[in-house]
Amino acid sequence: MNENCFVTGGTGYIGQHLLALQTAKGHPVTVLMRKPEALPALQLLVEQHGGNGSLLRAVAGDLAKPDLGLDAAGLLLVGQAKVLFHLGAQFAWGLTLEQARAVNVNGALGVAQLAAKQGSRLLMVSGFMLENQGHLQRVGVDLAQPARTDWPAVYRRVGGYEGSKLEAHFKVLECMQALGGELTVVHPATVCGHSQTGHILPAQPLAELISNLARGKLSAIPGTPAHWLPLVTVDFLVELMVAAAFDPSQVGKQVLALDERTPNLPGMLAVLAESLNRQAPRRFMPISVLRWLLKIPGLPKLLSTSPESLDFIQTTRFDTSATKALALKHQLVWPDIQQAMQATVRYAEPESAQA
Ligand SMILES: NC(=O)c1ccc[n+]([C@@H]2O[C@H](COP(=O)([O-])OP(=O)(O)OC[C@H]3O[C@@H](n4cnc5c(N)ncnc54)[C@H](OP(=O)(O)O)[C@@H]3O)[C@@H](O)[C@H]2O)c1
Repeated sequence: MNENCFVTGGTGYIGQHLLALQTAKGHPVTVLMRKPEALPALQLLVEQHGGNGSLLRAVAGDLAKPDLGLDAAGLLLVGQAKVLFHLGAQFAWGLTLEQARAVNVNGALGVAQLAAKQGSRLLMVSGFMLENQGHLQRVGVDLAQPARTDWPAVYRRVGGYEGSKLEAHFKVLECMQALGGELTVVHPATVCGHSQTGHILPAQPLAELISNLARGKLSAIPGTPAHWLPLVTVDFLVELMVAAAFDPSQVGKQVLALDERTPNLPGMLAVLAESLNRQAPRRFMPISVLRWLLKIPGLPKLLSTSPESLDFIQTTRFDTSATKALALKHQLVWPDIQQAMQATVRYAEPESAQA
């Protein structure tokens, strides 16, 4: 049962928690690292998250390099993995097409080709906007024939990060189909802190939202009472990823990791603000107005908000019945999302948070 795994993005937020869960379950894991000399620090973090750091090995590599920058010894180690978990990505706003594509598209294709070549399953992490067909059509993705999509036009609409995540998804699907590889995709909603410890990193979108609320930078609610920012806790997300990765019934499947009990934006901001001992904003500001305002030079920085982040706030509801069935099959318990939001505030803003 203790199959070997390979992980890209293991030093990142979701990656740290994935490594902790995998090693706690006894899986030896090889991690692709741009700085393999940082392995001891990563082992320490993984131990702090409840994992077993001694089961981790590092291989030097870079998603932006040909063949992932792996040398022959690295390839041998990766070859032992039953599942390749691909999480590594440039996750930032304001990336150019070239920057985003080099890592997020070419890197994902490199991992897919490796998985297919060595006969390992690929567990790829994409994003929940891929389950929003209306959004995909609106931004110009050709759903009938994705290969005919004008990708630079899509990047211009949604920005470098999201454009590259969409392009990577469709190109990896095409690649794995052509090579006959085994693929499972997990689409996370915006990631909430750990349901027990609240652990989150400052660069995570939810941590940025909490920081804006704490500093009084969010004076209006973006959108309408029907808008929401769907969440999933990091601990439930990695449980779902590991369950899906080793479940033969999940080959060829796409798993939406999203907690449908996430309150709509006014409710979410009320919970976060109360935990921060702050007044929640009450006025609404249409997304179109906010998007327009954010074109004013200097304003995105002043408000600590990027126009690229607004696409994730929406009114679409999602069908999570397949995810619920998968969770039930593997006896995974959905954490209470409201309590997880409160724990996240306590972790992210300990000075302001209510005891
Ligand atoms: N967090 C969310 O809300 C969310 C929601 C939906 C989907 N996702 C997806 O989930 C995945 C993980 O997200 P995260 O929040 O954990 O991101 P993160 O904390 O920013 O971590 C990104 C990881 O990618 C690695 N990486 C970046 N460029 C690389 C390169 N050129 N070569 C090798 N590794 C590279 C980083 O390694 P270094 O330590 O070397 O920088 C880091 O380990 C991403 O694919 C993201 O698109 C995240």
